[in-house]
Amino acid sequence: MESSFARWTRELTHAEIARALKALTRDYVQRRSRLRGEALTGKGKQAAFALYYGPRHFVITREVLAALDAPTPATIIDLGCGTGVAGAAWALRGGGSVVGVDLDANVLAQAVHTWRETGVRGGGVRAHIAKYRWPKPPVGIVAAFTINELDEADREKLWRELERQVQGGSRLLVLEPLATRIAPWWQDWAGRVAALGGRADEWHFDNELPERVHLLGKSAGLRPERLGAKSLWA
Ligand SMILES: C[S@@+](CC[C@H](N)C(=O)[O-])C[C@H]1O[C@@H](n2cnc3c(N)ncnc32)[C@H](O)[C@@H]1O
Repeated sequence: MESSFARWTRELTHAEIARALKALTRDYVQRRSRLRGEALTGKGKQAAFALYYGPRHFVITREVLAALDAPTPATIIDLGCGTGVAGAAWALRGGGSVVGVDLDANVLAQAVHTWRETGVRGGGVRAHIAKYRWPKPPVGIVAAFTINELDEADREKLWRELERQVQGGSRLLVLEPLATRIAPWWQDWAGRVAALGGRADEWHFDNELPERVHLLGKSAGLRPERLGAKSLWA
């Protein structure tokens, strides 16, 4: 966190990042049709994502994996890896190496930074999730706050691969925000994951975020003390 804050605050002020965080959150919650892989356009939004949502997603992924008592596979595929935090949180449980898949070259560069700073072995692949060439199972697969950005055709294509992977022994963790309208396909997927022997959960955590992350959320008018997600685990 220290090094990410140092990097971004060389270019942008706290007020600029907070303003971008507000706009980014508004885009996510209120204007979902404008997204589809374009959420992180512009430096301010990239900084806001890296300094606010990144740490939150790291903590959420870490806490969910701990609560599920998840083992750490040797290879972890982080789908829509963004700044690489979800894969890093899993690898830090037991030493796996991460392959981050994302469309966006800028965030992949940040993911490399995250893995280096957290001492995780990792590399990025710039690819569309629906076109990714999958390794043979078993691997670990995490899709944190990403599948809601896919259209239905890509989501279905991805599901067929995820099902094949789980049947081949891969472990799968899907995370999405608690808000129902962000992922209207959730109940359907929860049923599919249950049919594979998996489970669906909702999580609410009381976890202290670093002070600077908390302050950024407060400045953007958010409620940073609220930390939660829903998960599918197979
Ligand atoms: C909300 S961010 C989540 C990032 C990260 N998983 C996390 O938890 O912080 C969604 C990410 O998915 C990526 N993404 C969206 N659609 C994609 C697609 N079709 N293929 C690959 N990446 C995609 C975006 O570039 C973005 O980095």
